[in-house]
Amino acid sequence: MSADAIVRFPEGFLWGSATSAHQVEGGNRWNDWWRFENRSEYIASDHRSGDACKHWEMFDRDFGLAAADGHTAHRFSLEWSRIEPERGRIDPAAVAHYHDVLASLRRHSIRPIVTLAHFTVPLWIANQGSWESQDTIDRFCEFVRFCAREYGGEVDWWCTINEPEVLAFRGWSEALWPPVVKDDSRALAVIGNQLVAHGRAFHILHEEDRIDADGDGAAARVGFAKHYTPLLPLRWWSLLDRLRAWFENKAFNDAVLEAVTSGRITLAIPGRRGVRRQVPELVGSLDWIGLNYYTRWYVNAIGGESHIARRGANVTDMMWEIVPDGLADAAVRVAATGVPVIVTEHGFADAEDRFRPRALVDALTGLGRVIAAGTPVLGYMHWSLMDNFEWAEGFGPRFGLYRVDALTDPAGRERRRSADVYARIIKANAITPELAREVQIGSGASHTVAASSTSRNASP
Ligand code: FCB
Repeated sequence: MSADAIVRFPEGFLWGSATSAHQVEGGNRWNDWWRFENRSEYIASDHRSGDACKHWEMFDRDFGLAAADGHTAHRFSLEWSRIEPERGRIDPAAVAHYHDVLASLRRHSIRPIVTLAHFTVPLWIANQGSWESQDTIDRFCEFVRFCAREYGGEVDWWCTINEPEVLAFRGWSEALWPPVVKDDSRALAVIGNQLVAHGRAFHILHEEDRIDADGDGAAARVGFAKHYTPLLPLRWWSLLDRLRAWFENKAFNDAVLEAVTSGRITLAIPGRRGVRRQVPELVGSLDWIGLNYYTRWYVNAIGGESHIARRGANVTDMMWEIVPDGLADAAVRVAATGVPVIVTEHGFADAEDRFRPRALVDALTGLGRVIAAGTPVLGYMHWSLMDNFEWAEGFGPRFGLYRVDALTDPAGRERRRSADVYARIIKANAITPELAREVQIGSGASHTVAASSTSRNASP
């Protein structure tokens, strides 16, 4: 590596990518999403996850690709509905499958970061009210205990729940995801229940996983993945925009971060039933915090679309604004919880791989700088290793380092230039001036917002 690196990452920094079971495995027919896809008009272009990327069969080859690019970690999720397709019935074949997955990662010298809930729930959980039901918290905790006992010898890094706030708002407030409810009070309750579940899972994982799988001195390191999206007033002079942005930021971002550190859940939206609880298990329930960062939204309280990318903004294929310092700023914000950060997701929908190389280098340059200035960040997992099933957007948005045409060739993998750029960053453990120059010259422009525009996938 050249001595004049723009930024250098700490020794032992974890580099990898992230996926989730339902988005890549294929054939996840026992969860709520499968049912949702197969009976509804909710998915863009009428796509269904179907075989997805056939990762269920192809995981070993996929990890081979990641390893060849130098990845040292990989975040993926265990699909609860595979392991426990019916209440109390464990499927030994599924249990064995994930042992194979973990063994493959180990063979490739890739550390697993294992997510226990990434949006989907088994059908039998969906049928009892999903995360609205108190019983779901207990059942999830049993599942967590099972996984800790079963896989604790192979896993140290546990991520309890992915983006509790995104799941709640999409499923219970915007009615875009199952269970298609439009009720903010219920959405707040769903965030609250997932937070309680996280707190309890934290202790269960520490109780049950006593084996230091990678020999670095800790048996279980537990966090959750926070989707952090700054919500800013569209018009600084508008009191209404400012108020609404403040409340949304509070419910979506700050209240969740406060709850996992202080144990105090205070979730409120004006005019809605809020959640106020002190949860002892939540106090200090993080060994690390996962940061999922993609974009920021401007909040418009005065009619029309409520979440907007501003005119002139550079945006991805999904109209999500590309904010070069956004990842770094978000890392600083979530590090204020007092625990180290792992970027558990970050990436760009860019089907042609035109602007991803540069956007990636820009974001990692910013991240490297705040790390150098003292923000504790332990690793970076790019979303995603491969193009996959992007929930209600179907297979349209392309986030992969590897291209997959799921509809025509779910087992195909085509390396994008971004995979190469990322591999070079990993190899150097730095952003070098040469690479920074190269991606500036070699990258195409992102899309630009002509008039104020929105995405139907805007958070919250
Ligand atoms: C996040 C999800 C992940 C993926 C990315 C693009 O909110 O956690 O599954 O869909 O967005």
